[in-house]
Amino acid sequence: MEQTFLMIKPDAVQRNLIGTIIGKFEQKGFKLVAAKLMQVNETLAEEHYKEHIGKPFFKGLVEFITSGPVFAMVWEGENIIENSRQLIGKTNPLEAAPGTIRGDYGIVTHRNIIHGSDSKESADREIGLFFKEEEILSYQKEIDSWLR
Ligand code: PPS
Repeated sequence: MEQTFLMIKPDAVQRNLIGTIIGKFEQKGFKLVAAKLMQVNETLAEEHYKEHIGKPFFKGLVEFITSGPVFAMVWEGENIIENSRQLIGKTNPLEAAPGTIRGDYGIVTHRNIIHGSDSKESADREIGLFFKEEEILSYQKEIDSWLR
C-alpha cells in the first residue's frame, strides 16, 4: 500500500491544529502508521528541502521549519500521495480551494500549515529522513474492508 510523509508545520502546531488535521486524514479513510512531535534542526531542514537550495525563499523556509516543533507522520492508503495533495491544497493558501487544509486554515505561503510529499520518490526519501524502519507500523484496521 502506498505511503506518504506529512508534516504539520510549526505554525499549525502553535495554533492547536494537530488534531483537526489528523482528523481530516482519518475521516478520509487513511491509516496513520507513524507519528512524532519533534524539533527539526537546520541540517535535517536543509536536507529535507535540498531541491530548493538557492531559491529566494530557502533561508526563510529553513528558519520557519526549525522555529518550533513539527508533527511528523507517515500515512498509508490507496493513491495517498495524490489524495493527500488534494486534501492539503495549493502551496499558496490564497489559491487553495476552500475545504482544503491550506484553503481553510492558511493565509500566506510562508505559513502554509502542512507539508506533503509530491511523488513516490519524495515520499520514500522523506520517510527515510524522518523515521527509522522500526517506527513505522504495519497493522490491520476493521475499516479497511469498508473502503473499497
Ligand atoms: S517551487 O519553486 O515551485 O518548486 O516551490 P514550491 O513547490 O512552490 O515550494 C517549495 C517549498 O517551499 C515552500 N515555499 C515557501 N516558503 C516560504 N516562503 C515562500 N515564499 C515560499 N514559497 C514556497 C513551499 O511551501 C514548499 O514547502 P512544502 O513544505 O513542500 O509545502
